[in-house]
This record gives sequence, structure tokens and C-alpha cells, in this order.
Amino acid sequence: MQIKKAVIPVAGWGTRSLPATKNVPKEMLPIFRKPIVQYIVEEGIGAGLTDVVFVTNQNKTIIEDHFDRNFLLEQLLERAGKNEMLEEVRRVAGLVNVIGVRQKEQLGLGHAVLTAREICKNEPFAVMLGDDLLFGINTGIGELLDVAHATGKAVVGVIEVPDDKVSKYGVIQGDDLGDGTYRVTSLVEKPSPEEAPSNLAIIGRYVLLPEIFDILEGQQAGVGGEIQLTDALQGLADRDKLLAVKLGGQRFDAGDWVEYLTANIYFALQDEELRDDLVKRLQELLSCSS
Ligand code: UTP
Repeated sequence: MQIKKAVIPVAGWGTRSLPATKNVPKEMLPIFRKPIVQYIVEEGIGAGLTDVVFVTNQNKTIIEDHFDRNFLLEQLLERAGKNEMLEEVRRVAGLVNVIGVRQKEQLGLGHAVLTAREICKNEPFAVMLGDDLLFGINTGIGELLDVAHATGKAVVGVIEVPDDKVSKYGVIQGDDLGDGTYRVTSLVEKPSPEEAPSNLAIIGRYVLLPEIFDILEGQQAGVGGEIQLTDALQGLADRDKLLAVKLGGQRFDAGDWVEYLTANIYFALQDEELRDDLVKRLQELLSCSS
């Protein structure tokens, strides 16, 4: 099984992040020095993926532009002798092959993935949500790709969440195969704590088989009136073709303000130049607000 493509759905309206996202896509909001989506693309490249398929809408062209050359800016940086920044701007433009497809109506994540059918055709592919950030050693899409390559099955990334958070996620039921891997038997999208079959919640990393497209084609809208990817995954689970892998490290849902702000601080604290000043200012703020 050779997997080269990462489908990154970025066509949602980011309503939780309004008004910041009225005209700027959520995926382009900065986390420390980089837009959110650049972290996602870099994670994919680090795992050996070479092509990115952005599922976009009409307001999202600046995402594709971010991974393209900007000759005027490059000339300006060159003339100003800002060579380090020039190199960085060129590096970002050279990161990946970018393919854009338009999701004309935002009918849900399952529909966004289906929009990439003509590009992915009969190949297995990765899906990485454009607002779900994962950091740490041995975590992220690379972990799922290793399992997919070894088994030929589709794989979803899961994390353990407390009871009061399960209703925000798709939740799996599965047989524990050891080493943080599960054979998925069933899935429920956004269950109540009473209905949830476990505390293993699906996060924004998947490796999918092309047969998911046929399942999605015939699928009705589910929770929230949206075509849910979780519902389509049940079709793979029914054929014993779906595994789940527990992911570790730090995870931030950039669509949630507390998570978004914490991610900024997480990165800034790792920057030697900023760290001390930032800690000092945070301490001052905390002492003022208490
Ligand atoms: P979210 O539900 O987190 O994003 O979808 P959203 O819809 O943009 O945000 P809110 O909930 O209104 O604040 C997860 C990812 O799936 C994409 C989004 O762009 C986001 O990156 N998505 C969602 C699509 O591409 N198309 C859709 O129809 C729905």
C-alpha cells in the first residue's frame, strides 16, 4: 500500500471562531509564527506524504497561496537583505504539491472527503483536519500510516477523553489488540455520556481506503444534518477493515479559543528568545486578575 496524498478539508465556515474568521480562514490564523495549516502540512510531509489536496470554498484561496511562490515579496526581502526570512518564505512554497478542490456546499466532513474522490481515485489516502494540531514524538499521521502499511486496513486516530467531553466527538467501540491499537466494531457520532460506547474519541487524523467513497456516495445526513465521516467509517468497520490507534503528545483543537490560545503559549514557551519575557508577562497578568 503506497500512500502519498493528504486530504486536508478546510471548507468549513469556522463559526466558533467568528468574528476572527469572517474573512480570514480559521486554518490561516497564526499559532505563534505560522498559520495553523502549515503545522498540519509539515506533519504530513514529516510522515512521507508528498501531495496535499485542500478541500476549499471560495473564501479559502489564500490557503493555497500560502504554499505558492510570492515573487514580489521575495524581491522585496532580497533587496532588503532579509535573507533568513527569504529562505523561509521560499521553503514554505516548496513544501508540497498542492491540489485544490472546491466543496460548493458545506454539507459536512464526510461530504468534504467525498469531494476529493476525483483526485484520490483508487488510492488509499490520509485525511488531516485543518484545525486539529498534534505535537510530540511518535504521534500524528505517521503513526497511523505505519499501521495502515502493516495491515492494509483503514486507521483512525483516537484519544481518551473524559465522560463530559464525549459528546463533542465521534466515539469508537473496539477490541483492544494491545499497544494502543483497536479493531473497531462500531462508531457513534457525538453520543451523550450515557450512549458513548467508550471514552475513545476520534480526532482529526485518518488513513482511509478508496472504498469509503462508495459508502459516502450513498450516505444520508446524520447528526446536525451533516454528512458525517464517522457514519461512513461504520461501513469499513462492518467489513473488518478499520483499526484505531491511540495517539499521544499534545493536541489542540484550534477551533476552540482556550485550545487555540494555549497552543500559542505552548510554542512561544519553546522559543528561547521569548520564553523569559512571556513567562514574566503571564505572571504579571495572573497576579493582576487574581
Ligand atoms: P469543524 O466543524 O471543526 O470546522 O470541521 P468548521 O465547520 O469550520 O467550524 P465551526 O464548527 O463552524 O466553528 C473540521 C474540519 O473540517 C472542515 C473544516 O474546515 C475543518 O477544518 N470542514 C467541515 C469542511 O471542509 N467541510 C465541511 O462541510 C465541514
